[in-house]
This record gives sequence, structure tokens and C-alpha cells, in this order.
Amino acid sequence: MLVIGYLLGSIPSGIWIGKIFYHKDIRKFGSGNMGTTNTFRVLGKKAGAVVLLIDMLKGTLAACQPYFFNVHINVLIIGCAAVIGHVFPIFARFKGGKAVATSAGILLAYSPLFFLVAWIIFLTTLYLSSMVSIASMVGMTLITVLSLFFHDPILTTIAIILTIFVFYRHKGNLSRIKHGNENLIHFGVVYNRQK
Ligand code: G3P
Repeated sequence: MLVIGYLLGSIPSGIWIGKIFYHKDIRKFGSGNMGTTNTFRVLGKKAGAVVLLIDMLKGTLAACQPYFFNVHINVLIIGCAAVIGHVFPIFARFKGGKAVATSAGILLAYSPLFFLVAWIIFLTTLYLSSMVSIASMVGMTLITVLSLFFHDPILTTIAIILTIFVFYRHKGNLSRIKHGNENLIHFGVVYNRQK
């Protein structure tokens, strides 16, 4: 299950959709990331929505394996293999995304209600900050805090690890935020302040 999870997570949807349908390598534009936000930025809303869906669902599918195989293993632990795959994809020379959409996907497998709450936090922060990076980091942090209400040490431990991981992957964004040139997105309109 860990290997299947890793391989699912490794599917670099943004790169493949960009290359196959738009003849563009999204890593050469915008933030250079292969994730949902940069796909929106470089390829537009349709491609961005598809990549968001795929990147989330690969986490959900990976995490649901214990249900499919009827095995008693925490879905979050298996789901983490997909997050690792997304960040270090074997199909893209181990240079992947920032762990956000796939982490959301494994949360959906754990608790659809918690997933909904996470989306509300994310969208509210995005509306207030106009920065997906801030919404991602604040969202992960608040998910970790809210996880305490579930009284599930595995959930909280994994939330802490993923939050640290997400912050680490947003090093470049944090530096752009500090220098006032982070990319903005407002009411679905993406502003690219880098190039
Ligand atoms: O999930 C990634 C997002 O938080 C930031 O993406 O492309 O602006 O670095 P990007």
C-alpha cells in the first residue's frame, strides 16, 4: 500500500497536462512549481481545476487503500506515502510540489467534515490575504490546532509533520512574502509579480 500510495502521489499531473494539452512545461513559468496554483497561473482555470482535482484525489485514493483492502491501518499513514510521492515524484526526477493539495486529499479520506472545515479556512484566508501560499500555511497550521479536538494522536502527529513540511516547501514563497513580491490571486484572477 505504501508503494502504491507513493506511485499514485508521484503522478505529476500539472507537468503532464501542461505538456500533453498545452505543449508547455509549467516548471519554466510563474513560480516554477508543478502544483495547482502554478497551473492556474500558467495554463488557466480549466487546467488548474483538473490538476487540483487529480492532486487531491491521488491523496484520497492512496489513503483509502486500507478501506479497499479491509486492513486495519490508519489511512493517514498510508496517505503520507502519496504526499511524499507528490513532493518527490519518481516520474519527475524527484522534484515535485508543495504538499498542499495531496495533504488535503488524505484529510478527505480521514474525515470529509474536517476536510470541509479545512477548505473553509483555506478560502477565507485566501480571500483575506490574496496569497495561496499564506492560505496554505495558515490552513495547515489551523488544521493542526483543530486536530486536537479529535483526540487522535496519529492525526495530530501527522498534521504537525505535514505542517512543518509545507512550511519548508514554501521557503521561496516566504522569502517573496518578506520582500513584497509574492504572487497574488484575487477573485479567481491570478497576478504574477515575478516575471
Ligand atoms: O500549494 C502551493 C501554493 O501554496 C503556492 O504555490 O505556485 O504560488 O508557489 P506557488
